[in-house]
Amino acid sequence: MTKTVENLAKKSLSLIQPYVPGKPIELLFKEKGIPRIIKLASNENPLGASPLALKAIKKKISKINRYPEGSASALREKLASFLNVNSSQIIVGSGSSEIISMAIQAFCEPEDEIIFPEPSFIIYRILAHAFGLSPTAVNLNDDFSYNIESFVNKISKRTKMVILCNPNNPTGSHITKNQLKRLMNNIPDSVIILSDEAYFEYVEDPEFGTAMDWLGKKNVIVTRTFSKIYGLAGLRIGYGIASKEIIRIMEKIRPPFNTTSLAQEAALAAIEDKEFVTKSILNNKIGKDYLTKGLENLGFRVFPTQANFIFCDSMYDVDRLNRKLEENGIIIRPMTGFRIKGNFMRITIGKPSENRLLIKTIKKIVDRWR
Ligand SMILES: Cc1ncc(COP(=O)(O)O)c(C=O)c1O
Repeated sequence: MTKTVENLAKKSLSLIQPYVPGKPIELLFKEKGIPRIIKLASNENPLGASPLALKAIKKKISKINRYPEGSASALREKLASFLNVNSSQIIVGSGSSEIISMAIQAFCEPEDEIIFPEPSFIIYRILAHAFGLSPTAVNLNDDFSYNIESFVNKISKRTKMVILCNPNNPTGSHITKNQLKRLMNNIPDSVIILSDEAYFEYVEDPEFGTAMDWLGKKNVIVTRTFSKIYGLAGLRIGYGIASKEIIRIMEKIRPPFNTTSLAQEAALAAIEDKEFVTKSILNNKIGKDYLTKGLENLGFRVFPTQANFIFCDSMYDVDRLNRKLEENGIIIRPMTGFRIKGNFMRITIGKPSENRLLIKTIKKIVDRWR
């Protein structure tokens, strides 16, 4: 019976390695019964959710018998004034991952080529296979920086979409304004450029190149999210910004009621929560410096990051190190399974106490191995 069903599945699905998310706290608790667990594995906001968003949800909770306003018009209006674009240039989705999925569905025919960086967010490859496209990965440089020339060289007549992940997950590397200009000037107008900017708010480099600067000049879609800096990952809400023509096409396939009323309310309030955003950015900056120094002192190779996570080469067997950290109630993300060879790991920057505990615990573990 199982075999028959497998034969019925789309052929391209056999190429998909299912997405493995960071281990949930509840699962580690069930496995090990450790009372205090810290999760630094899914690039969530360690400070929690925006307090203004929490207040807004509480106010609207009794209204959930009603369907949401499907096109999220109030949120689109607010985002439009926040971003200085027109609300017809915005689409809202169940997380930015849904926007990425809708963009691919709306613009790519089966067999079209889609180009994305590697290592990067695994979802691009999964979606490419799910929709029967031809995925072409462009390797980052050995130091995990972007190689723009490689992107340009990979573009062919069959290329329909180029996805950029900026800053890139899991490496934290970014594309500068100059690099983006070089890339844009070499991409034909027959190609859609999707810039996934989920970590945009954490960026510190003034030379960072956002694809927002290319709206109206190229066929650009920028995706951003409320899951990270605003701390609303569990509510599932993100958005896309593009020309009104691109948005009109994507709207054709947006599922009705794709975002919940509570998620929309929370997002509307979160945008106003400047205090929480400022606090989150500061926490990230302090944690980034602390973890970078701490990990380097332990002999790890740490790569520069513009996001809310640290990517490093642990130099030890990373799966073994991960098991030991889990025994101590700490969840990080070993990069086995992320199409990167070696002992790399990704650590979400936590609260100061969490960062201190992480460094102390790693030190305790590796001191025994030296
Ligand atoms: C690069 C990147 N894009 C998109 C997402 C998904 O975000 P969302 O929760 O908005 O779907 C993530 C989540 O980790 C990510 O790392």
